[in-house]
Amino acid sequence: MQIIKTTDHQQMSRYAANIISAQVIMKPTCVLGLATGATPMGIYKQLIEWYRKNDVDFSLVTSVNLDEYCDLSGDHEQSYRYYMNENFFRHINIAPENTFLPAGDAADYEKECSDYDALIQRLGGLDLQLLGIGHDGHIGFNEPADEYVPGTHRVRLLDETIEANSRFFSGVDKVPKYALTMGIRDIMQAKKIVLVASGEEKAEILHKALTGPVSPRIPASVLQLHPNVILVADEMAMQHFA
Ligand code: F6R
Repeated sequence: MQIIKTTDHQQMSRYAANIISAQVIMKPTCVLGLATGATPMGIYKQLIEWYRKNDVDFSLVTSVNLDEYCDLSGDHEQSYRYYMNENFFRHINIAPENTFLPAGDAADYEKECSDYDALIQRLGGLDLQLLGIGHDGHIGFNEPADEYVPGTHRVRLLDETIEANSRFFSGVDKVPKYALTMGIRDIMQAKKIVLVASGEEKAEILHKALTGPVSPRIPASVLQLHPNVILVADEMAMQHFA
């Protein structure tokens, strides 16, 4: 694992954006696995800025997001589709038809999950997967569990995650209880993984996940087994590393 320690969130965002834009420049037709949440916001802002300066071109890129809440339509303000459109896609020249998220409101979610895995395979896999890490060590919405789930699946969010995500909703009771998420195999098959973390509240889990035993109880720990992970994290998030 390559570790890049940055002074703060802003520098973390710029460095991670650099890696993503290098990927797009090196392979304009690449498949980017993308994440939502607070951590990547600055990365998307930076990429938009470079796009506007003509430094990066997304016209041939395909994106496949990690996850989506169940029971929210794509135009709901807290859906991940909405987040991606508003914070990234509509500001760059990616073709809307080449942007994919699991359809959280699909009636037949099992079919939606297997179609999503088939899509990833058809695209030839993910060239680069951007990941954040949850307070409980989740990646995508792969929550701590007794075993890893390989493919895209429906998951019951843990109360801790619902609580953490309630900051984006008008109340904790408004947070969906279920989500569709890529599985651990989908993520681990990415050719390159960029894991980003920022702030003191991620320090303990980041250290545990990357230096402790590999266990589905801390889903992100599986990243220790991936041959090409780049961790980009700020000093606060890395305070427990020697
Ligand atoms: C988001 C996702 C989640 C987040 C994680 C951290 O698509 O898959 O795993 O990366 O919950 O979220 P933030 O960045 O808000 O702390």
